[in-house]
Amino acid sequence: MVNTFAQDVLNGLTAKNKHLSSKYFYDDNGSRIFQEIMNMPEYYLTNAEFEILSMQSKQIIDALGFSTPFNIIELGAGDGLKTFKLLEYLVNANIQFNYVPIDISQEAIDILTERLKERLPGLNIKPKVGDYFEILKVNKESAYPSLLLFLGGNIGNYQEEKASELLSLFNENMKTGDKLLVGFDIKKNPIIIHNAYFDKHGVTKRFNLNLLVRINRELDADFKIDDFDFYCHYDPISGDVKSYIVSLRKQTVVLGALNKTIHFNYNELIWTELSKKYTIYEISNLAEATNFKLTSNFLDCKHYFTDSLWVK
Ligand code: TRP
Repeated sequence: MVNTFAQDVLNGLTAKNKHLSSKYFYDDNGSRIFQEIMNMPEYYLTNAEFEILSMQSKQIIDALGFSTPFNIIELGAGDGLKTFKLLEYLVNANIQFNYVPIDISQEAIDILTERLKERLPGLNIKPKVGDYFEILKVNKESAYPSLLLFLGGNIGNYQEEKASELLSLFNENMKTGDKLLVGFDIKKNPIIIHNAYFDKHGVTKRFNLNLLVRINRELDADFKIDDFDFYCHYDPISGDVKSYIVSLRKQTVVLGALNKTIHFNYNELIWTELSKKYTIYEISNLAEATNFKLTSNFLDCKHYFTDSLWVK
């Protein structure tokens, strides 16, 4: 089998405008650094969504209007417990539902399942590992309605066109009347967004440069980490936060495992991540463009973030 990490790194670093996919940030070390990001006071996203699910679970569930037992399908559940407050509300209110967390990582799903069984023994949990659409296709035949969850900053990491494609695909794999709850980071004072992504502690820099450490280790490369820096830019008109690694010198890097030498110019960039921000108006346009109807937005008290409820 082709090693897709090696293939993607090679494609990205030999492209005219170099890029590396942010999905490779999350090796063990990267996941730990991401925890640090989430604990920074400047990174408001995690707290904002936690507040929404802590304070408004009842409102969200009431807005579903399901009158029978239902499925909650979480796409990209990870090993985090972002959904815990919602699940806790449902179990305590004695509402009948199945929780189906989906992730590509078996390990993440195992950890999540074990923790939830311990903390919410009354929960019916049916974890799945694998491709979202394979699982959604099967679920489309279920006799019960479903709520799909796509939470966190997830959708923001897709370029607008890709986000549309993905949401349309969700739609095609849902039954009429099924619901989707999707998290969006909202456009706000640009300084707040800038500080969340270009933090003065250097945690986000470490997070990005860890990708080079990973390439050194897994692909036998010789990136000199100190010869690279981090840069990040928020464009408040488009809503795009773009993160980059910057080469501080003209230099060459050898990818030993791929038998390949990569040249970097002075100040050449590697684009690593898009984190797109939306207005409420742009969110409702996106819902419409992907064949959904927006039912309601559930915002935190500062109006930094929304979990947006859509119906097919
Ligand atoms: N993908 C997440 C987000 O968009 C995580 C993240 C936070 C991130 N800061 C980052 C990804 C900087 C890349 C660069 O919020």
